[in-house]
Amino acid sequence: MILPVVAYGDPVLRKEAEEVQEGMEALDSLIENMWETMYRAEGVGLAAPQVGRSLRLFVVDGSPFGEGEEGAPECKDFKRVMINPVLFEESGEECDMEEGCLSIPGVREPVTRPVSVKVEYFDADWVLREEALTGIAARIVQHENDHLDGVMIPDYVPPLRKAMLQGKLKDIAQGKVPADYPMRYPGKSIR
Ligand code: NI
Repeated sequence: MILPVVAYGDPVLRKEAEEVQEGMEALDSLIENMWETMYRAEGVGLAAPQVGRSLRLFVVDGSPFGEGEEGAPECKDFKRVMINPVLFEESGEECDMEEGCLSIPGVREPVTRPVSVKVEYFDADWVLREEALTGIAARIVQHENDHLDGVMIPDYVPPLRKAMLQGKLKDIAQGKVPADYPMRYPGKSIR
């Protein structure tokens, strides 16, 4: 089932999400719906708070970045469900890259992040995994993990630029920015 994506401005996106309990009821169908919703919106990642569930869980599929000869090798077959993830910084090295977010349609901003991270998480079969990630795969996971702590792209934007973004963010929250996937807006339900 495709779920509406919660738009910027909804308090659920700013909450510290709760740990998923092992054996949680309907966890499989939530994950299934999150995949469907992410692919419908042509995203490479979707966190549970973005479908209105304040839980520490996200899905990522970076394979669009891995396509073709020029594709990022770390993104080939990079499809994961990460439950209760914990991130560790791998190195002190950071880089800038423009990011977008399904909850903030039409906004793309450069975000500075560590190049590499290590992540520990439970997969969909509740097996504890540890992975070292780099490049775009590391970036996608850091972006989604931020959602679990209520952190979003505008939080990384310098103050002047953020001030310039305010009008656009307000429009998004009020449902005035069209997206080609179903969205849920704070305080009202459109599309
Ligand atoms: Ni996002």
